[in-house]
Amino acid sequence: MTKILMVCLGNICRSPLAEGILKDKLNNSEEFIIDSAGMGNSHIGELPDKRSILVANENKLDITYQRARLFTMDDFDNFDIIYAMDHFNYKALIKLAATEEHKAKVKIILNEVFPNENLDVPDPFYSSTFAFRNVYKMLDEACDVIADKLLKK
Ligand code: 4NP
Repeated sequence: MTKILMVCLGNICRSPLAEGILKDKLNNSEEFIIDSAGMGNSHIGELPDKRSILVANENKLDITYQRARLFTMDDFDNFDIIYAMDHFNYKALIKLAATEEHKAKVKIILNEVFPNENLDVPDPFYSSTFAFRNVYKMLDEACDVIADKLLKK
């Protein structure tokens, strides 16, 4: 069983999409646990942002079962890979990690597509639906690579 956690700031825009996209690419298989969490506490308990729900729907995905939650220290033990949506969240996670083993679990998601470039999935919260469609495309590509690797194992 491989457990993957997607992390952004609010857990309402980017990481809920990443969670929904990867689950779908893994055919909702019970061999994997895919979850998401946020580094900030402003949106705990909320549904994903309406614009994330919209672009998910445009791609035939339903993410309305999700509720925002805060990242916890237990997540370092409970997950095998922790994907940060951008370098801000990556740095925050590395700062929190108490051991080298925990630090080694944290990765920047777009490095799966562009290795070592440390590119961000841009925060779309203050932008338009267009920005959310762009986020979706980036995450779709990254999750293609991640799913291929996981399914080949
Ligand atoms: P997310 O987007 O980190 O992709 O969920 C954001 C959501 C909320 C805020 C910032 C980013 N906020 O400032 O409330």
